[in-house]
Amino acid sequence: MAAFEDILSAGRSISPWLCVVLALALTIFWHLSITIYNVLLHPLRKFPGPLSQRISWLPWGFRHARGEQALHTQTLHDRYGTVVRIGPNHLSFTDPQAWKDIYGHRIGAKGGAQEMSKCALFARPVRAPPTTILNADHDEHIMLRRALSHGFSDSSMRQQEVIIVKYVKLLVERLREESHGGQRALNLATWFNWTTFDLVSDLVFGESFHCLETVNYHPWVENIMKSVRFHALMLALNYSGLGIVVQMIHKLGGFLALSKIQEYTNSMLRSRLSMGKGRNDLFEGLARKQEEWEKLGRNATILLLAGSETTATTLSGAVYLLLSHPEILARLTEEVRSSFNSLDDITITSVNRSSYLLAVLNETLRFYPPLSSGMVRVVPPGGAEIAGHFVPGGTMVEVQHWSVNHSKENWDEPWSFRPERFMVSPEEALKRGDKLEAVQAFSLGPRNCIGRNLAFVEMRLVLASIIYAFDLKLADDSQRWIERQKNFNVWDRVPLNVHLVPAGQGSR
Ligand code: HEM
Repeated sequence: MAAFEDILSAGRSISPWLCVVLALALTIFWHLSITIYNVLLHPLRKFPGPLSQRISWLPWGFRHARGEQALHTQTLHDRYGTVVRIGPNHLSFTDPQAWKDIYGHRIGAKGGAQEMSKCALFARPVRAPPTTILNADHDEHIMLRRALSHGFSDSSMRQQEVIIVKYVKLLVERLREESHGGQRALNLATWFNWTTFDLVSDLVFGESFHCLETVNYHPWVENIMKSVRFHALMLALNYSGLGIVVQMIHKLGGFLALSKIQEYTNSMLRSRLSMGKGRNDLFEGLARKQEEWEKLGRNATILLLAGSETTATTLSGAVYLLLSHPEILARLTEEVRSSFNSLDDITITSVNRSSYLLAVLNETLRFYPPLSSGMVRVVPPGGAEIAGHFVPGGTMVEVQHWSVNHSKENWDEPWSFRPERFMVSPEEALKRGDKLEAVQAFSLGPRNCIGRNLAFVEMRLVLASIIYAFDLKLADDSQRWIERQKNFNVWDRVPLNVHLVPAGQGSR
């Protein structure tokens, strides 16, 4: 007892300044120890990367919140090579083999894991909401994927052709009306968003957002970009060790844009479910599971988001890149206008024959991938071999599209837009310095994009129809369109203003 009182009285006699100094010294000691550990003792110590990122999570978080992370990581690959330590426990790869090693099926792999699981920090930054196809664990994912796969099959796609073509035609009609013979420049980035959202909402909910009809944003679409920027900030906080703040913001209702989106989704979902079964659309498989209302709502939101923004971004990128390369635009225009006699001729089957069009889209997906990064996986216990490197269990690993698509190890002149790369066989391309398998815009393996076919159908139909119907010219204020954008795993697109002169009125 006496000893305890001695300690208490000793505590009372310590000055507040001494406490501050002690706390400071402890903090410095703590950070110094972590720094020394991360540089000299950490299992990833042999992997190259900038010192600031090897010792701390903050630089990555700071750049991500500012929309610069993926762009910066690409410059690190130029400096350090095909594998870079971009966070203390985080590696980025640009060797094409890493696609298979990270995202592919792992049959007979060490430890028995059939796939590298998604990193919760990225796939599920907030714990409360129900899981979706994008972040479900292995077993639930298989169940959701099965439920959805029929709606995305080739045969369903053919049945949905009428709906898809309806929106493509509406787009061309509206552009004709609104462009005033090319005098008025139109923001095609917005028009493509309207088209893809109208189309996918019809395929998911049986009801369009009516953006093309009203020539206006639906609040759902308007809230998307706000939520993307907000999500990037939350991810950056999570990554920098402030996950607790993110959970608190969510509890206090801070994810306002997301909850607004969810409200709209729920009301459209109610009307979709009231339509009953047998629509054979994208949502039919999930609609049968009427009992899990919240999960249905979240998955419907994911379908809309995943299916619209990506396709609209690729179409915007393709138009910009074509308008910045007149000789490529001329070749595509020649192919399209010599293949079809009218807009009605452009169908899923006929447009499949336009090989240069497909090459333009593939090169766009390489040059300006709609998803730049963020598909982070965790190496299972026991470690794994990735692109010839042994990586210890628990490490966060990824291939970033922007980096792998602009790596000089993978491409001859990676910053040149050259659809011709995709006009030859992979073997021939390799002889010319292009590793075609490095582009995996839709990822690969068990969690690859289920909407790949639909995306290509949409993009081919829209691009062919626009090129057929109009002569295009980039407005002066839309030069350097890609360089002016920020990137939060998806692009924060700036306006893409284009003059559209009906073909035949000008050159034809
Ligand atoms: C150019 C267009 C598109 C691109 C580049 C793209 C890309 C991707 C990528 C890279 C993934 C994997 C994400 C991950 O591993 O975390 C993915 C997943 C997914 N995409 Fe797409 N996508 C596109 C269009 C679409 C469309 C049109 C739809 C449907 C309407 C769609 C629905 C989905 C869904 C549901 C998933 C999750 C699949 C799963 O986890 O099993 N996507 N997409």
